[in-house]
Order: sequence, then C-alpha cells, then structure tokens
Amino acid sequence: MILKNTLFGNLPGGRQARLFTVETSSGLTICITNYGGIITSIKMPDQFGNSEEITAGFPNLEDYLNDHPYFGVIAGRFANRIAKGKFEINGKKYSLPINNGPNHLHGGSQGFHTRLWNYEITEKPDHVSIRLTYSSPHLEMGYPGNLKAVVEYTVLENNVLQISSEAETDLPTHVNLTNHAYFNLSGFKDDVFAHKLFVNADHYLELDETQIPTGKNLVCEGTAFDYRASNEKMSLIREPMDHCFVLNKNRSLQQPAAILFHPQSGRQIKLFCTQPGIQVYTGNFLDGSLTGHNGISYGQHQAICLETQHFPDTPNRPSFPSTLLNPGEIYRHSSKFVFETLKGKI
Ligand code: GLA
Repeated sequence: MILKNTLFGNLPGGRQARLFTVETSSGLTICITNYGGIITSIKMPDQFGNSEEITAGFPNLEDYLNDHPYFGVIAGRFANRIAKGKFEINGKKYSLPINNGPNHLHGGSQGFHTRLWNYEITEKPDHVSIRLTYSSPHLEMGYPGNLKAVVEYTVLENNVLQISSEAETDLPTHVNLTNHAYFNLSGFKDDVFAHKLFVNADHYLELDETQIPTGKNLVCEGTAFDYRASNEKMSLIREPMDHCFVLNKNRSLQQPAAILFHPQSGRQIKLFCTQPGIQVYTGNFLDGSLTGHNGISYGQHQAICLETQHFPDTPNRPSFPSTLLNPGEIYRHSSKFVFETLKGKI
C-alpha cells in the first residue's frame, strides 16, 4: 500500500489542511482531507483495467471552502434534517440554525463538514488508518454538550474502506454522523439511472413536503422503491430518490445493506453498516453549476449518495431508534464499503 501525506491548502487564518492519498496494490486510490473529513476522490479500475474517478469532488481546497452540496463530507453533528431546527431534551428546548427550507440540515452551515479535524495516521502492511478527531464546543450550531467526535477511515489492501465513528459528550445531546460521498461508477460517463441498486429494506420513510418523516413507514413491495432483488435480478435505479430506507433488522452484519453496480464498467460497491437507515439521494439538486475533477460539471442525477445513518428528525420522534447520547455513553457506528470489479457482467 502507498500512503502520501501532502498539503491540500491553507484555510483563511493560515491553518493547513492535509490530503492523505492511499493506494492499494490493485489500484484503488482514495483521497481524504482532514478539512471536513472529506473523501475528495476515489479512483478505481473498471473491468478492462481503466482507472477512473468515481466520486464527485474537487481537486482544490478552495472549492470546498465555498458552498457545495456536502461532497464527500462527514455530516454532523446530526446528518439529515431536524424539523424546524428544534428539539427538547429533558424539558430543555434547543434551537438550531435553519438552512434547508424550514428545517435544519446536516449539522448547519458550519457543521462538521467545515471543521479542520486533528489527525493521526497508522500505516500497516495491509491497511492505512486516518483517525480524525474534532471537539465540538457546547452550543456549537445550537447543539448541547461538549462533544468529542472521532471518525476513523481505514483503507484495507483488499479494497475495503471502513468508516468507524465514535462520540462522547458531557451533556445529553443528539448525534448522527454519516459520510456524504457521491458515487458514479461509470466514471461520470452515464448518470445514476445506468446503475443497478440493491437495498436491504422492506420499508422506507414517508416524508412530508419539507422532507421530514411523517412517522409512517411505507412498504417498498410493488413500488419503485423495491430494490430488494440482488445478483442477476438487481434492478436499475428507476426514479429520483431522496429518501431514507429502513434497513431490515433481521439482516446479519455480514449481509450488505446496499449494493451499487454499474454493469458496463463492472464496478460495484457493497455497503455494510450498523446504522438503522440509508438515505438514498440521487443528486436531484445538482444543477451543473459546480465543476470538479476532470472539468466535469455535476448535473442533476449524475451521482448517488448512500448515506448510512439514523432516521431524519429522530430527536423529535420517540418511536425511531434513539440518537440521544448521554454523558458516560459512547456513540459508536461503522460502515464498510467494499469496492469490487466484476468481469463479463454487462
Ligand atoms: C441530503 C439531503 C438532500 C440534499 C443533499 C445535499 O442527501 O437528503 O436533500 O440536501 O443532502 O445537497
């Protein structure tokens, strides 16, 4: 494995952001910066041996300092939406900044995706780990408690990316961390609808017009949201999505929560996770206004996010699996992306 640790750029005020590039011997190359914990680039060979960029992002730090749709970031403290930016813990009311219609999204405009994380590198013959840590002060973006967050990216020689997250607090608070990478396994030649998808979910969350769950679980069977067929029967993405799937509880952690496959290139990602949900977002709001790697202007439906997470608006939904973190407890979740190239499956 090869690891490079280079300067990515300077933040206003002079602090340096680093770029860590990890390459496995079969050619999977992943770049991660400690600014926002962002996965800036993933290159992967197709079934003919051509290596291409498969994630949306920028080659320069400057572009990440401007507004962008959370390309590759760690979204936190609370990924996804909190209705009207409000919640209550033990009778105490908290107000978070509103940055998405009437709601709070992805930890707010100055969420974890804009923070410079401390880093520690471990290099072993079969893996490289980049351990990022960030201490979020009490009431940062409105959230209670001093929160110590750790996100560890481990790239394994067998083309696996593991993302392990932990957090501890000194006051009761809510935590929901995810990585917000956008994938296009065709190397951005085709759009998301040329990809096949498997999601291990019988249900998805019904949303209101502001994308907040109504509390009702809808059945996938017989709808365009039924992505339960795997292998040969796996279906092409049928329509735009920005929805949280309820992962089947009876699945073992050895079973993928989702699979994304692009038949022409043979590139596939198998995704495993400990979280109860996956927000599947088909780049509906991409509008071609941002240009990234290889001069590509990312247009609508040109990339898909598979955001492993707790359900949106959980702080206001006692019936959802809880995101409350109390002092003395440890928030702990992990996701695993297995990158594979299948031959002759067109
Ligand atoms: C999430 C949301 C989308 C959108 C993107 C970022 O996936 O669910 O609605 O806000 O983030 O653009």
